[in-house]
Amino acid sequence: MSKKTYLLQDPETGKRAELEVRDGTLGPSVVDIRSLYGELGAFTYDPGFASTASCESTITFIDGAKGLLMYRGYPVNQLAEKSSFLEVCYLLLHGELPATDELETFETTIGTHTMINETMLRLFNGFHHDAHPMAMVAGVVASMSAFYHDTTDINNPHHRDIFAHRIVAKMPTIAAAAYKHSLGQPFMYPRNDLNYAQNLLHMFFAVPAAEYEVNPIAAEAIDLLFILHADHEQNCSTSTVRMAGSSGANPYSAIAAGIAALWGPAHGGANEAVLNMLEEIGSVDRIQKYIAKAKDKDDSFRLMGFGHRVYKNHDPRATIIREVCHKVLKDLGRVDSPLFELALKLEEIALKDEYFVEKKLYPNVDFYSGIIYRALGIPTSMFTVMFAIARTVGWVTHWREMIVDPDGRISRPRQLYIGPAARDYTDIDKR
Ligand code: ACO
Repeated sequence: MSKKTYLLQDPETGKRAELEVRDGTLGPSVVDIRSLYGELGAFTYDPGFASTASCESTITFIDGAKGLLMYRGYPVNQLAEKSSFLEVCYLLLHGELPATDELETFETTIGTHTMINETMLRLFNGFHHDAHPMAMVAGVVASMSAFYHDTTDINNPHHRDIFAHRIVAKMPTIAAAAYKHSLGQPFMYPRNDLNYAQNLLHMFFAVPAAEYEVNPIAAEAIDLLFILHADHEQNCSTSTVRMAGSSGANPYSAIAAGIAALWGPAHGGANEAVLNMLEEIGSVDRIQKYIAKAKDKDDSFRLMGFGHRVYKNHDPRATIIREVCHKVLKDLGRVDSPLFELALKLEEIALKDEYFVEKKLYPNVDFYSGIIYRALGIPTSMFTVMFAIARTVGWVTHWREMIVDPDGRISRPRQLYIGPAARDYTDIDKR
């Protein structure tokens, strides 16, 4: 059977390049352009890599038009309904769902790695109390290669496993340390009798002076949010992790790079931006003014938590999270609080507004996650940290895939240079 190819011709020289088309298991085919520069001396131009597949991957599949998201072939709605965050971590890292004993062993392994080196804890004292938690978390994660350099041989599969377990286990502890530092409260050590989400809540909200009981509604909601945020194929932060890691950098640095990328308001920082926006809008009667601002071409304001690069129909995570959001607000008796009333009204208005409907701008996962985190008492500045904790397993899984990819090379995009042509240096007295 002959392979499908694309034929590209240089209009000036008439030279041709035959480019092979490659099919994946699902999703659009890709045109393999690796020989293009050699054959025609031209690069491709694709700002934001919106049309470029940068790697082969077996981890996550998204069909933006159908609103489908699958981890290792399992639809995320099934995982959200039936699984737990740590089971999803196992699935992502190992490619298959665990048997009962495999899951127990994995949970124990993660449990035994939850503490962080005491010296590392002291790093937090170097930060101002009002430092943004994302800045502290990015800095401390980058420092982990200094604490755990016994396992940074990227070519050693055992080292890669230990790194994966360490970072997944320690992220909530690091996040909690950042939070406690910002409050000036004593750090709470992890408790391995609690599950991942319960332990996180304990480290965030318990104090040594009083008993603390984890709210099961909060723990369940966090576990679910973490499942939904665990991976999202080649998004900005994941591509950053792959790119940083492609140079052979130690994995902790690669994850720190991903955390930095996630922080941007067009990416994971949107959940924090949603709450800031709701506070700025302030009351239901001011919603229309902000809708008008979002539509105004001359105004840079965008409705935070609306729209998505890939999902132009609906975000399957948002569909699930919307229900959880409404349930959490009801269960915690917060439906009537003015901020949540405002959020729900904004959702209602934007879903009907012609501009948003026409441009397919639906509430995304960050719109609802921000509201849920607020209802659970998590401070706004910690929202993106929560996203980073959940996404760590996705970053690690992609990093591991990238390291063993036989086609893997250092990531090094090309450019279309539009700066000045060659010119001679002018002496300073002649400028
Ligand atoms: N509010 C108002 N208008 C919007 C919004 C918005 N939130 N999002 C997109 N638009 C408009 C754009 O102005 C553009 O209009 P035009 O066609 O008249 O020029 C059109 O919709 C398409 O927008 P693009 O920016 O081209 O879409 P892109 O796919 O590049 O961006 C993004 C997606 C970054 C998510 C964008 O929708 C946005 O900025 N949303 C707000 C931030 C946000 O919620 N980010 C979280 C993303 S989810 C995540 O990271 C987990």
